[in-house]
Amino acid sequence: MSNVINPPSTSAAPPSSVAGAATRINPEITNQHPSLVPEDAPAQISTTHKRTLPIFSLEGKTCVVTGGARGLGYVMSQAFIESGANVAIVDLNGPEAQKSAETLHKIYTTSNPTAPPPKVTAHTCDVSDPQSVSSAFQKILELHPSGIDVLVTSAGFTENFKAEEYPHDRMQKLWGVNVDGTYICAVEVAKEWIKNKKQGGSIIMVGSMSGSAVNVPQPQAPYNASKAAVRQLAASFAIEWAPHGIRVNCISPGYMMTALTQKIIDEQPELYNNWVSRIPAGRMGNPVDLMGAVVYLASDASSYTTGADIRIDGGYTVI
Ligand SMILES: NC(=O)c1ccc[n+]([C@@H]2O[C@H](COP(=O)([O-])OP(=O)(O)OC[C@H]3O[C@@H](n4cnc5c(N)ncnc54)[C@H](O)[C@@H]3O)[C@@H](O)[C@H]2O)c1
Repeated sequence: MSNVINPPSTSAAPPSSVAGAATRINPEITNQHPSLVPEDAPAQISTTHKRTLPIFSLEGKTCVVTGGARGLGYVMSQAFIESGANVAIVDLNGPEAQKSAETLHKIYTTSNPTAPPPKVTAHTCDVSDPQSVSSAFQKILELHPSGIDVLVTSAGFTENFKAEEYPHDRMQKLWGVNVDGTYICAVEVAKEWIKNKKQGGSIIMVGSMSGSAVNVPQPQAPYNASKAAVRQLAASFAIEWAPHGIRVNCISPGYMMTALTQKIIDEQPELYNNWVSRIPAGRMGNPVDLMGAVVYLASDASSYTTGADIRIDGGYTVI
């Protein structure tokens, strides 16, 4: 990305289509960005290993990622594999989870032919259903007998309805996946860790900047409330489970380009410029932008970090 100073403009106000225009002190500076990663492809990252702190390594760890078949969960799964972990992808869409697991395995083994291959498994599961979660996690433990070390709860969705028109059944469905699903999966793994007196387990909940700010103009009150609930669940569980050596943190992304946001933009194309004009960084996030934070929270590098909420939103929520 490079900053570009545009020729002086004769108009005082920047055009609203200019990236970050609504938040820039100097409206004549815009950003130029490489195109975003296509939704159905994993992140295009360098696989050349550079020296880094060994404490960030996930070598030998097993990471479970709900909603890992696509979007943010898919790219976070790739980050874990690149950092040395085995991964279990848990998703409502079983065939896509299977395809994603195979793709991630192939990409890693092709670019690292001499390294030990990761174990990447796929599990069909509805995170809002306790029975479904229980049987999926049993299966994960059968296939990953050394146990689970990290859980990421990325399964979730959003819908836009005016508050006074929101269908009640859709609202319950949304909270069922975003809030209950996060709760059920976290408790499932924590119970196992507490029973086995495991130390150092890490739960990473995917919240949203919408849990801290009401992003506009789309109406999505139940989604915003669900993500505030996720952030508060992470903080509450962090306190309850700290005596058991379990860490619980939240990642709150801003607008990231995935199938979820692509669908919204496709339905309302004018939203794209509106959103970007409010982001100080001048662009939507790329799922790759979450890789560093999720690896940090999964690794021993964050062993004293619990109850935190890391916002990765290009500065959206600080203005
Ligand atoms: N994309 C963004 O801009 C953005 C920003 C902030 C937060 N988030 C959050 O990140 C998470 C992932 O979003 P995304 O953009 O990757 O979405 P996505 O639609 O690309 O992927 C979500 C995945 O969750 C799965 N899923 C949905 N319901 C499920 C259920 N009941 N059980 C199991 N799996 C289920 C879907 O099949 C899908 O694979 C969500 O919680 C979302 O709210 C996204």
